[in-house]
Amino acid sequence: MSVLVTGGAGYIGAHMTLALADAGEPVVVLDNLCTGFDWAVDPRATLVVGDIADQALVRRLIAEHDVTDIIHFAGSVVVPESVSDPLKYYRNNTAASRSLIEAAVDAGVPRFLFSSTAAVYGNVGDAPVTEDTPLQPVSPYGRSKLMTELMLEDVAAATGLKYGALRYFNVAGADPRGRAGQSTAAATHLIKAACQAALGLRPRLEIFGTDYPTPDGTCVRDYIHVTDLVAAHADLLAYLREGGDSAVVNCGYGRGLSVREVVDAVRAASGIDFEARESTRRPGDPAAIVANSVRLKQLVGWVPTHDNLQSIVTSAWEWEKTLGERR
Ligand code: UFG
Repeated sequence: MSVLVTGGAGYIGAHMTLALADAGEPVVVLDNLCTGFDWAVDPRATLVVGDIADQALVRRLIAEHDVTDIIHFAGSVVVPESVSDPLKYYRNNTAASRSLIEAAVDAGVPRFLFSSTAAVYGNVGDAPVTEDTPLQPVSPYGRSKLMTELMLEDVAAATGLKYGALRYFNVAGADPRGRAGQSTAAATHLIKAACQAALGLRPRLEIFGTDYPTPDGTCVRDYIHVTDLVAAHADLLAYLREGGDSAVVNCGYGRGLSVREVVDAVRAASGIDFEARESTRRPGDPAAIVANSVRLKQLVGWVPTHDNLQSIVTSAWEWEKTLGERR
């Protein structure tokens, strides 16, 4: 019995792999290393370099490693890129997921966790969104993930598959023990970009849009520590293993923070007053999005332990400072 983690060489997948290995679970990582790094995979896991759309490979891995659970992170994650290159997102996030789900169902894998996104909601305003909020994604990224959620819902209804879809809000931070972090070179995510600006790895941070209908004019997001997000997966997996029904859950803290607040926090954590230049809006960005995660807490007993911005930003900063030496 083992857990197959797709995208386990990437940011969130590497943290999940660590947590599974810490819990003594056998883990197989499948990753094509297009954005991930082999050094990011915990050595206690088996790394297989390959594509999730390679059904022959996936079928072989499931059989050889007696895979009972799949946690599917592999995919493309940059919202603005999805606007300029939508077919990449429908290929990597939708078509490849279909192939993986088919291989899982054919092999009788009983459980499947999917990394979905808050981007399935679209422009919803600043009130926390529940999972029952109408889904109106505004980016191809959000649509490509929603399609996979819908596939899972249909497949679960037609087969014995149990699934969990976790709608991530803004994942950030790094393993508090310094074993993993966000390592993507050309990162576009705010906290990573701000840490890079503080280190002088980029000339400045750009604030994309200051005329949004939000308290300070910049976008509002619900930043969740990657360690708490990984715990949500572990809790949901345990719930499914105990016979729980398939579930779609939001993963966030229910607290909205503006871009300016995040910039100030990174300045405080780093002690560096890096430049943040006001710029125009970025395509595909909703003004505000904040999670209501009551369902996750009630269903699986999720208890976040890092839900403060300082902890998120400090761990991201500590990781960024040492990243150059790890590569
Ligand atoms: N931002 C800047 N400057 C930067 C980078 C980002 O101002 O250099 C702003 C963005 O415009 C946005 C906010 O910071 O307003 C957050 O942007 P990110 O790129 O960090 O994250 P996104 O909100 O675009 O997307 C993330 C995940 C998605 C998820 C979404 C949910 O990547 O998977 O959060 O809100 F769906």
